[in-house]
Amino acid sequence: MTGLRVLGLGLGLGLGLALLAPALPAAAESAAAALVAERNCGACHGERGVSATPAIPSLAGQQAEFIALQLVLFREGLRDVPAMQAPAEGLTDQQVEELGAYFAALPHAPPPDRGPRDAAAYDGGAALAERLRCGVCHLPGLTGQNQVPHIAGQREDFLAETLMAYRDSKRHGSDTQMNGVVQGLTDAQIAQIAHYVAQR
Ligand code: HEC
Ligand code: HEC
Repeated sequence: MTGLRVLGLGLGLGLGLALLAPALPAAAESAAAALVAERNCGACHGERGVSATPAIPSLAGQQAEFIALQLVLFREGLRDVPAMQAPAEGLTDQQVEELGAYFAALPHAPPPDRGPRDAAAYDGGAALAERLRCGVCHLPGLTGQNQVPHIAGQREDFLAETLMAYRDSKRHGSDTQMNGVVQGLTDAQIAQIAHYVAQR
């Protein structure tokens, strides 16, 4: 419950600022978003949006539009993740956009516990990524665009789990593009792809 109360406080302040100054300066807007993010998101997604927790994705340097879209999917119950239910509940569309812009502006960094590169897994993953044309949508550097997420340097455990969730139809985006991409891959192939993407 404390978490929810803190969320309410943080969001209340954001709204208060917006009411005081309709043409809110960008700095004040991002200050309000930073406050919400530090109080309500940092415990899981890491201090500056770089996650040190298994299976929780980093948000630093992520595409703003992708973050906003996912928060709306969580809020509307269309992406079913119990841990994200409370944080997304009650966010206004404006707060969703502010949070997206805030995390997108933080410097991207690989997780502090990233392991060393395994040459065989990396090369296998690179060949699969080439064949499945990940770079067409995620761009050649895998840094994403608009609603297509930045995936390079993301946590390997999260990448593997989420690719399996797409394959097993346990996760859908606003469309089914990703489900089609990973259809029929084995666990071992997904592990290689996850390793390659995480090491980029
Ligand atoms: C209790 C832990 C927890 C808190 C607090 C939390 N999150 Fe999350 N969040 C998660 C988990 C776990 C996932 C990944 C779910 C999955 O397996 O797909 C996630 C996923 C996300 C995603 C999707 C990212 C992606 O790459 O797919 C976004 C965006 C997000 N969270 C934003 C936020 C924001 C903004 C806040 C604060 C308002 C927040 N989260 C607070 C646990 C948390
Ligand atoms: C046809 C375009 C397209 C191709 C090709 C594609 N993706 Fe995606 N990918 C997307 C879109 C769109 C999303 C966002 C979907 C959503 O909202 O869940 C996404 C989401 C993801 C995510 C979730 C990231 C996160 O933070 O939640 C991962 C991981 C991913 N893609 C990896 C890959 C890999 C690896 C490949 C190649 C094997 C690939 N994608 C090929 C369009 C594509």
